[in-house]
Amino acid sequence: MRAPRKRPLVTAVFLAATFSSVLASGTAATDGEPSTTVLPPVVFPTFKELHSKLFGIDVDDSNNDTHVVASFSNPYDIRPNFNNYPHSNLLPAMIASIFDIVAPIGGPRFIVEVGSLHGHSAIQMATVLDYIGLEGVPILCIDPFTGDTNMWAAWQTDAAVGKWVKLRDGRMTVFDQFMANVQFAMTRTLTPHHVLPFQATSTVGARWLKQMGYTPDLIFLDSAHEEGETFLEISMYFDLLLPGGILFGDDYGWPAVKHDVNKFVEQHNARHMVDNPIDFQITRAKEGVSNMLWIMRKAIQWKGQTER
Ligand SMILES: C[S@@+](CC[C@H](N)C(=O)[O-])C[C@H]1O[C@@H](n2cnc3c(N)ncnc32)[C@H](O)[C@@H]1O
Repeated sequence: MRAPRKRPLVTAVFLAATFSSVLASGTAATDGEPSTTVLPPVVFPTFKELHSKLFGIDVDDSNNDTHVVASFSNPYDIRPNFNNYPHSNLLPAMIASIFDIVAPIGGPRFIVEVGSLHGHSAIQMATVLDYIGLEGVPILCIDPFTGDTNMWAAWQTDAAVGKWVKLRDGRMTVFDQFMANVQFAMTRTLTPHHVLPFQATSTVGARWLKQMGYTPDLIFLDSAHEEGETFLEISMYFDLLLPGGILFGDDYGWPAVKHDVNKFVEQHNARHMVDNPIDFQITRAKEGVSNMLWIMRKAIQWKGQTER
């Protein structure tokens, strides 16, 4: 039997409670003064809508063949694997506390993960969603699933990398491992309307989301980790983010990540310090590890943003 479902407010990292009514009304107040600034339209797709738009298939819950993950054919017979590195740095308590930040604006309602690898963090987030009774919240996993620079450079020379990087037919089996893991999780406890792969680069994914007009309220950016590329990704995904939403990532200790995260916050806040600065936090991913998460909360409304 499943654990009882409830919506715990684990921690309140940011003071966001006053923002929900602002979002709902579509106008904002600054220092008590009403503002006429128009908020962008808020659009949260359902899992089924994303599935139809991306794959041209309408999910019929009584037919697994209509669900891309449930019907994954697993051509290389990849076994689900949750033990090998790379494991997720996101523990349930941390995920729950990040969900709590967007709870006052009704979130999370649409989660995007950029860089998903084998799906460990996506499955962790989906499991927490199930636990708190949010079975309808989609997690769109944007990743070309083709292996990053380090995987290609080191899989033959570094045993620690070679242990979890596999090739078949001249390509990495990242997508296959992702699908095998999510499919397996769904045969156990995971409900089916969460994790959806989008096999595309971060920039293609961001542009597609923009064209669709979707406004994710939670984005986990864990992709390139390369200087310049990370800055571009942060810029594109921060733009998509719902006001009041969270953009976060791990590996803040990586020089390239730290450089680009700091640069983005500094540049943004230099322009918007008075009206709507980014609320920026760095926190340890979990007890006893050096890995640091960076967390940006977009202001509920910023004056420069009047249209999409
Ligand atoms: C650190 S892993 C992600 C781990 C995953 N978030 C987790 O916690 O389980 C980085 C991933 O980023 C992906 N990646 C690299 N460059 C990318 C790009 N330009 N766009 C999207 N994903 C990218 C890689 O394919 C890889 O799967």
